[in-house]
Amino acid sequence: MSRFPHDFIWGTATAAHQIEGGNVNSDFWLAENVPETIFREPSGDACDSYHRYPEDIALAAELGFNTHRFGIEWARIEPEPGVFSRAALDHYLRVLECCHAHGLAPMVSLNHWTVPRWFAARGGFEMADSPDLFARFAEQVSRHLGDGMAFVTTFNEANIQRVIGSTFHNPKAAPGLAAMKQACARACGSDRFSMVLFATAEEIEAQLVEAHYRAAQALRAGPGTFQLGVTISMAEVEGVGEGNQAEAFENDLYGPWLDVAKTADFVGVQTYTRYRIGPEGRLRLPADAMRTDMGYEYRPEALEATVRFAARRIGRPIIVTEHGIAAKDDTRRVALIDTALEGLQRCLDDGIDLRGYVHWSLLDNFEWVLGYGMRFGLIEVDRTSFARTPKPSARHLGQIARSSRANTPSSIKG
Ligand code: FCB
Repeated sequence: MSRFPHDFIWGTATAAHQIEGGNVNSDFWLAENVPETIFREPSGDACDSYHRYPEDIALAAELGFNTHRFGIEWARIEPEPGVFSRAALDHYLRVLECCHAHGLAPMVSLNHWTVPRWFAARGGFEMADSPDLFARFAEQVSRHLGDGMAFVTTFNEANIQRVIGSTFHNPKAAPGLAAMKQACARACGSDRFSMVLFATAEEIEAQLVEAHYRAAQALRAGPGTFQLGVTISMAEVEGVGEGNQAEAFENDLYGPWLDVAKTADFVGVQTYTRYRIGPEGRLRLPADAMRTDMGYEYRPEALEATVRFAARRIGRPIIVTEHGIAAKDDTRRVALIDTALEGLQRCLDDGIDLRGYVHWSLLDNFEWVLGYGMRFGLIEVDRTSFARTPKPSARHLGQIARSSRANTPSSIKG
């Protein structure tokens, strides 16, 4: 594994809502707890990382990583419109300081799907003024935290509405979804409740694009020398048969985000699987296909394909900001990592400007509507005691990271 550059970014990824616990002022917390919820279970205390972050960060460093990706929670920082919590901002300042103390470059997600409850109840990103509100939040983050960040990303998987459009909005899931949203709206005394994960691209994408640019502007105007990116959910798209619709499918999957990413310092590639596209659209997985615990295809080679796609179509420096597998059997995670990293080495050999690999996830955590059953973590978390136990995959990837790197990365501007 020594062919990775010495300053390669090796990290693990988390998201605020999935690990912090007690995110009571967020839209997701409400949606998880209304009787009409479509969530398998509520997030509750999650991994209690709001309190246990020093342990998480120390563990990541000890394992051999040099970068830590985590989210800051808008619902905590701006609990009411225009009311900013100094205490919450100070909390994230301590998280940043903790990263630096352990030699980890902090990679901060401004939005990993959750928003304040008040923001969802006024219509979320469906509203024309939502970019103003997101930019105002970004401005506060910039002012208080800008100096400490090494990397910042605006939206996590900015194209997520396009990715899941075909699952949550299928006729079967839609009635339950509408009932949950209505219950949330009622609980807020509103007639609407708009969540990033459950909205359609038609409803919110134009505002998200605008919000990205406005937030980027606010962040760049403030202190700090961080690199700014946007992360995109990418899948290997394979055309099957003559007249296949792969190209059209791909265009639809990414919409405007490839162009948006061209204006960023780096693009965050997040990849979990492959889609095979025939003349009639997406093909069903054959019954004997290898699957992850999520049910989708096990396809470690997909990462190489998407990194090559990003290099070709975006042409900016690339950081893999998420890649991983839901697997109770940890040997599958080790196998996935090894195959995927071989692909990344080929990308580097071909001169692709790939700067790093950040694995999803540091911890077993709250996998959104699926709850705690899906195990993406390098580290197991006891659901009662919150005790953290690194799995063999954590030591494996950590060792690869340690052996290839010498220094914490500081700048990737190019
Ligand atoms: C990605 C999300 C992340 C996690 C992984 C498994 O789409 O960004 O929060 O849920 O999938």
